[in-house]
Amino acid sequence: MHRRLRTTYIGQMTTRDSSHAPETVVVEAGRPQRSNGSSVNPPIELSSTFVGSGEIDHSDYVYGRFSTPAWTPFEEALAELEHAELPGLVFGSGLAAIAAALSLVPREGTLIMPRHCYQGSLESAAEVAERNGFTLTTVDIADTEAVVSALDDVAAASAVLWIESPTNPMLEVADTPALISAARERGILTVVDNTFATPLLQTPLDLGADVVVHSVTKYLAGHSDVVLGAALTSREDLHKRLHSERSLRGAIAGPFEVWLALRGLRTLSVRMERAQANAALIAERLSTHSNVVETRYPGLPTDPGHKRAAAQLSGFGAVVAFCTETAEQATAVAEAVRVWTPATSLGGVESLIERRRRNTSEPESVPDGLLRLSVGIEHAEDLWADLDAAIKAAHSA
Ligand SMILES: Cc1ncc(COP(=O)(O)O)c(C=O)c1O
Repeated sequence: MHRRLRTTYIGQMTTRDSSHAPETVVVEAGRPQRSNGSSVNPPIELSSTFVGSGEIDHSDYVYGRFSTPAWTPFEEALAELEHAELPGLVFGSGLAAIAAALSLVPREGTLIMPRHCYQGSLESAAEVAERNGFTLTTVDIADTEAVVSALDDVAAASAVLWIESPTNPMLEVADTPALISAARERGILTVVDNTFATPLLQTPLDLGADVVVHSVTKYLAGHSDVVLGAALTSREDLHKRLHSERSLRGAIAGPFEVWLALRGLRTLSVRMERAQANAALIAERLSTHSNVVETRYPGLPTDPGHKRAAAQLSGFGAVVAFCTETAEQATAVAEAVRVWTPATSLGGVESLIERRRRNTSEPESVPDGLLRLSVGIEHAEDLWADLDAAIKAAHSA
């Protein structure tokens, strides 16, 4: 694995072997330099400004809206995990990171986005498209031919391809390597939302993606206690623009939230391992449940995205979607569960369930009775017994 360095930052941290596996990196990255009696964890740095009297040098700490040691350990850890040559950029939310990435779409350009990606990204893109005067085109991201044909229809220099895979909430799997390389061949910029897969399952920058964005709120932080985002790139020009978006719009993260996110990151690999094992078991049982109309999980051999996911990802993730016959039944399931929590969001240790169309801005092509499961790390049999009982009760009501 390669190493990206930021000398002014790295000088304050421990130098480590850069060939370590991601399971090791999540534990060891972003630690303070070792000396007798030094802290094992970075402190929560609470300073809005930093000493300096000469001409401002932005490679150093100056002011807390530009960069702060409160972010550096987490940003370094993320960059290492995503194989970015430059430090990560933490933002106040995933959507703030997404808004910064959307600013890369030029006026009169085109943004090609999955029709079923996170609805907040779609809503934000539609709003920015109108304000900044670019065209938003939505595609079925699993249909490679259709996406490539959309790429052929746009002027390369002013287009951006947005990939989310697996998608939220339909769990469609894109042929990510093929799409990134098709975009690159045409000189089109690619942004990948890697929230669902996490860098443990795929590292899109290695495939040639230009920018990766995350809702850190989800798996990276992992405990449903912070709202944060991040953007990563290895391109100096894009890093500068994303950094400038963050500094000038001010969508920055608080020191405590970032500290919590780094603390959460330490257990990412064990959380993912357990959550994925639980998700596989639950998806398999849902797929043969007589009261379930359809189950989507890339790990199911029968899932349309299975082959691609098996080839591209080093795991199938921990989000499962299934449909009941009606929206009323889906709502009744969410109301009946006791181990699962009926709530939006995903990626925390606790299992969540949500009927996605309760959010009226979710696209109508998402089935009315679709329930999205964020499978957590509880005992799989407790999760299954609770869900199975809720589905049966909703069906017979
Ligand atoms: C795939 C994906 N990207 C981005 C976001 C937005 O992140 P945040 O809620 O941290 O702003 C979400 C939130 O649900 C998401 O699921």
